[in-house]
Amino acid sequence: NTPLRVALAGLGTVGGGVVRLLDANRDLITRRAGRPIEIVAISARDRNKDRGIDLTRFAWIDDMRDLAGHAAADVVVELIGGSDGPALTLARQTIAAGKGFVTANKAMIAHHGLELAQAAEAAAVPLKFEAAVAGGVPVIKGLREGAAANRISRVYGILNGTCNFILSKMEAEGRDFAEVLAEAQALGYAESDPSFDIDGVDAAHKLSILASLAFGTRPAFGDVSATGVRHVIAADIAEAAALGYRVRLVGVAEADAHGLFQRVHPHLVPVDHPLAHVTGSLNAVVAEGNYVGRLFFQGAGAGEGPTASAVVADLIDIARGEYGSPYAMPAAALTVEPAADT
Ligand code: HSE
Repeated sequence: NTPLRVALAGLGTVGGGVVRLLDANRDLITRRAGRPIEIVAISARDRNKDRGIDLTRFAWIDDMRDLAGHAAADVVVELIGGSDGPALTLARQTIAAGKGFVTANKAMIAHHGLELAQAAEAAAVPLKFEAAVAGGVPVIKGLREGAAANRISRVYGILNGTCNFILSKMEAEGRDFAEVLAEAQALGYAESDPSFDIDGVDAAHKLSILASLAFGTRPAFGDVSATGVRHVIAADIAEAAALGYRVRLVGVAEADAHGLFQRVHPHLVPVDHPLAHVTGSLNAVVAEGNYVGRLFFQGAGAGEGPTASAVVADLIDIARGEYGSPYAMPAAALTVEPAADT
């Protein structure tokens, strides 16, 4: 069978994970995809860095934006990050070149997802970003497909692994914020600019993507109000615990007659609520649908293996010929405000 040929931009935590996962589960992935998935070209900032992987079998492209025009590739996977700059250029050029595009870049999708989805629809190419929200947890697929027949009243959850790791370590071990942040960085959870994590920006990116899926609205990152965990101190956590609560950074999107409200801030979560038991770098998302009831998704929200797993799942979908809007409806049909009957 004809392989699906992949050009890969970015060989950091997630990019390295994609190469390793495709190697390790090659036979299983080929069977499930119906054909092999082969990386043909790669690009990253630093060619000579030792990543512990044999990269000599792939064509090296100096400027990652040139992957869009790489004749041997059917799909480009972008794992560089950044809402604009080379990642966005690569996305636009890949779609314009009639190729599929897979990304874990929540910042870019939060800011430019609608434009890219409309371009992908017009060009009849797949655009996929399962890895952009909640790492390995299939929450995009879960909302897009599993809740497709439902009106959703509310979607909320723990969307940043770094913050959850910090809050749960501070809580369990009484440790210091800065020290735990350094540990989250060393484990590969944090963004290259960790202020995106601790100020709630990363969670806001992800919430705006989820809200669009839940409510059929145009992604509106600018409408999310966000406060992070920078000012949470050990005493807050101890006091909350004494009252029967845990502190979690929670993103909430809900629609009512007045519109759609999206916010991210530290919440006091009662200890008997499922979100109180989401610890470490785990993420969790709850969606309330009018026929399916309460859906609860939980799993690893950051890190190499889980995020690579979501990227490769998108590639398997593409290899099988599963296209369609990445949102819950065609991008052209997304509304500015939730419909009254949301
Ligand atoms: N920095 C992100 C987090 C990575 O901590 O959740 C996954 O998107």
